[in-house]
Amino acid sequence: MAAKMLLLALLAMASSLAMASDPSPLQDFCVADKDSKVLVNGFVCKDPKVITQMAAKMLLLALLAMASSLAMASDPSPLQDFCVADKDSKVRVNGFVCKDPKVVKAEDFFFRGLDKAGDTVNKVGSNVTAVNVNQLVGLNTLGISMVRIDYAPRGLNAPHTHPRATEILTVIEGQLLVGFVTSNSDDGNRLFTKMLKKGDVFVFPEGLIHFQFNPGHTKTVAIGALSSQNPGTITIANAVFGSKPPISDDVLAKAFQMATEMFLLVLLAMASSLAMASDPSQLQDFCVADMESKVRVNGFVCKDPMAVKADDFSLSGFDMPGDTGNKFGFNVTPANVIQIPGLNTLGISMVRIDYIPKGLNPPHTHPRATEILTVIEGQLLVGFVTSNTDNRLFTKMLKKGDVFVFPQGLIHFQFNPGYTNTFAIGALSSQNPGTITIADAVFGSNPPISDEILAKAFQVDKKLIDWLQAQFSKKN
Ligand SMILES: *[C@@H]1O[C@H](CO)[C@@H](O)[C@H](O)[C@H]1NC(C)=O
Repeated sequence: MAAKMLLLALLAMASSLAMASDPSPLQDFCVADKDSKVLVNGFVCKDPKVITQMAAKMLLLALLAMASSLAMASDPSPLQDFCVADKDSKVRVNGFVCKDPKVVKAEDFFFRGLDKAGDTVNKVGSNVTAVNVNQLVGLNTLGISMVRIDYAPRGLNAPHTHPRATEILTVIEGQLLVGFVTSNSDDGNRLFTKMLKKGDVFVFPEGLIHFQFNPGHTKTVAIGALSSQNPGTITIANAVFGSKPPISDDVLAKAFQMATEMFLLVLLAMASSLAMASDPSQLQDFCVADMESKVRVNGFVCKDPMAVKADDFSLSGFDMPGDTGNKFGFNVTPANVIQIPGLNTLGISMVRIDYIPKGLNPPHTHPRATEILTVIEGQLLVGFVTSNTDNRLFTKMLKKGDVFVFPQGLIHFQFNPGYTNTFAIGALSSQNPGTITIADAVFGSNPPISDEILAKAFQVDKKLIDWLQAQFSKKN
């Protein structure tokens, strides 16, 4: 092996061995490049630009292999053989406290009835039967759960995210059109879709918006597995338009760029309807991202430490307001691993956000991070919506000096209701948190999600969906 190649391989290993068990994702996905000569823990990533739907099959192969390890990003790693959830305990921890092992029985690891179809006679024509820690107490701390999904002909599992899990799904019977949308990027929000038949397997990466639709004339049954004992589900339409209490119509009308009358129509329609914790821990003082390297790993390979300079850890200009001359009247200035290569493997990043009066940071999620934010100047109405089925809206009016937290993967927004500019600083628990702006990802993906699917998901006319897609199309 040429010395240069060996060096590349060693650098790649240094940054990838940091993941003792399964690595936490540092980007939307990292499709295994089986042709690469570089040896790392897992596989190096393919260039995302050349990922085709064929390659999605490679992705699922890689993830199937990874799925055999139970220590997952967002769930605690087990510190003993098992820790069966004690539902009667009043003590609250992350997950559940353990039952006395002496009274644990085989039944604690057992669930019966996944052979039974859920009732699909509802507005969307699908039904998810979940087997997570709430139904199967033995799953506590084990980082995995399962679902059976039934779809009537033309049945839809509407666009949703799992804030704490990747999902892998196989079709047992029938057929399924599946898809997921990547987080915001210069290339827009890319839609990956695939028509699945019996025996096919597909992967939906952690935190990304995805859906399944049965386009056939027969019913479909699928089995999915999720990399969390309690993955959570956020159905976009419900969380955005059906939260309790509702998100202000000022915020939503602006986010979806609709005239108020048009917006009320959607709201009325909806009223009768349903809506990653740690980056890898480092094995050295730092692993400054080498942006020149052609080797793709989870995150970036490390620069030669001797070539690292203080500038690799710094960025200037955070005192300058971003350009708020856009339809929402806000601007996010990021300081993540792209701007500060020294953040690689360190699990944190920062943003400066500017808002003009009535400026809105529209409803979005960060698939890989919790966000903590403080108002430096001005005022801010902030909120987040919990996952299904409650979809509770937590809002708070913040003034200068106030701090607020948006938990990982949940839909949230910030709105400046005042007459003066607002400026906030946020920190996120990932070197590359990713952002999924709901309206862009759902109505502006490339290629677009079928209007039949969206009309069903939002329980509105296809014409309205076509209009919304025209508003959010990247071609505009
Ligand atoms: C799903 O099916 C179960 C079992 O048939 C039923 O109790 C439940 O109400 C159904 N859920 C929906 C949303 O239709």
